[in-house]
Amino acid sequence: MKIDRNAPVGVFDSGVGGLTVAREIMRNLPSEKIVYFGDTARVPYGSKSKETVIRYSRQIIRFLQEQQVKAIVVACNTASAFALDLIKGELEIPVLGVIEPGARVAASETKNKRVGVIGTEGTVGSGIHASYLKRLDKEIQVIGKACPLFVPLVEEGWLHDSLTTEVAFRYLKELQEKDIDTLILGCTHYPLLRSTIREVMGENVRLVNPAYETALELGRLLKEKDLLNTGTKQEKFPYKFYVSDLADKFKDFANSILPYDVEMTKKIDIERY
Ligand code: DGL
Repeated sequence: MKIDRNAPVGVFDSGVGGLTVAREIMRNLPSEKIVYFGDTARVPYGSKSKETVIRYSRQIIRFLQEQQVKAIVVACNTASAFALDLIKGELEIPVLGVIEPGARVAASETKNKRVGVIGTEGTVGSGIHASYLKRLDKEIQVIGKACPLFVPLVEEGWLHDSLTTEVAFRYLKELQEKDIDTLILGCTHYPLLRSTIREVMGENVRLVNPAYETALELGRLLKEKDLLNTGTKQEKFPYKFYVSDLADKFKDFANSILPYDVEMTKKIDIERY
């Protein structure tokens, strides 16, 4: 199959979290176009079964394929944990998740080999970070903690709120006592709570946001497959945003965190795919 190197990259998440990954792609691979899909009608994925998350992911991929993307970034840890291996086997275009890049950074950063992972119930329950980390260094101890209330707090825009800080203290207390020196933000929504998590965990714990490393990995993968965008024509709208519900709310949120003015967000019927 001949893939068009000037086609966009597809990026998806259950909602706004994947924007933290899209943001890094925009910063680090500025020539790449993006089609973003946020499944705002069906968020959260973290409390859903593996079968459901696989079904949702496949629908989104069918939609992204219709947009003729040249590669897909699964910018959701839960979908990466449950569906990535399966999807990879079903597609001819490159597909990348967010878990392996984050695990690689954490393995190289930890000194005391005690790494914490926070994420959704689905991601933490899958134990997938631990299996990547142990593959990289079998001495690493992994301490996981699901923080299910973080996603609705982020979706609500309560990024700097005393209630969010209170919730963070409750969730992270356990990790504070476990002497970790590195903490993976294992849900793409969580980098938006970085300052709160930093306040709770203190300066001595290294916070790993896998989004940056994922963008670099995407660049490496596109280069290896000779798929880096070489187009010189400046597109008026290089980034397109689609959601399954509440397009205006999404657009306002996206505009508050992206280094780019989002002109339009379109709602589509994802159940049709
Ligand atoms: N942002 C997603 C993740 O990285 C999913 C959050 C959710 O929908 O529960 O896991």
